[in-house]
Amino acid sequence: MMKGVSFFVTVAILALASSLASAYDPSPLQDFCVAINDIKSGVFVNGKFCKDPAMVSANDFFFSGLNIPGNTGNKVGSNVTLVNVDKLAGLNTLGISLARLDFAPYGLNPPHTHPRGTELLVVIEGTLLVGFVTSNPNKLFTKVLNKGDVFVFPIGLIHFQFNIGETAALAFAGLSSQNPGVITIANAVFGSVPPINPDVLIKAFQLDKNVVEYLQKDI
Ligand SMILES: *[C@@H]1O[C@H](CO)[C@@H](O)[C@H](O)[C@H]1NC(C)=O
Repeated sequence: MMKGVSFFVTVAILALASSLASAYDPSPLQDFCVAINDIKSGVFVNGKFCKDPAMVSANDFFFSGLNIPGNTGNKVGSNVTLVNVDKLAGLNTLGISLARLDFAPYGLNPPHTHPRGTELLVVIEGTLLVGFVTSNPNKLFTKVLNKGDVFVFPIGLIHFQFNIGETAALAFAGLSSQNPGVITIANAVFGSVPPINPDVLIKAFQLDKNVVEYLQKDI
């Protein structure tokens, strides 16, 4: 009898835990909530002010220009064009966004995380070495992707994409947030404003003082 009760309690706790876990992404509460900056004409509040649904048009759900490659003429040889809620107001409350990733030959999208979004990437052209690292213990999951290959980078984990081909590469990615955010590790650590005390970085990365000073100046 007691065994039966404790089994029931265990099942109830597990059911509660799984419903809490799946309650992660809040319901949008309405069909859509096109974000609006002018609060005088905003009528509903849900995170951002929503545009009056009677004033909403198809253009609020439309973005044009992801056919245009980003300029990869920078130090890392890559460029991410992100279509988030700031560029497409209709994404507000819908928990999704889209990115175009361009890579010069041997271009790198350096190690970074999206604090609020899982990323699902598809390669359209070229060959990318991709990977992500788990939280402690830091296990690397890595793969070489070719045209048509898909890879998922779980929310919050440090990941990268590296064009290992001699030609330009192109990928698109969906992200499970209207504003996934990005923390580029090297920039955050060595390029913060104001800078992190160099002694912190010298000890953390076991680097020479000159190297830390160089990196803090350069990034
Ligand atoms: C990415 O490309 C756009 C469009 O060419 C450009 O304005 C932007 O500066 C580029 N970003 C970087 C980091 O190179």
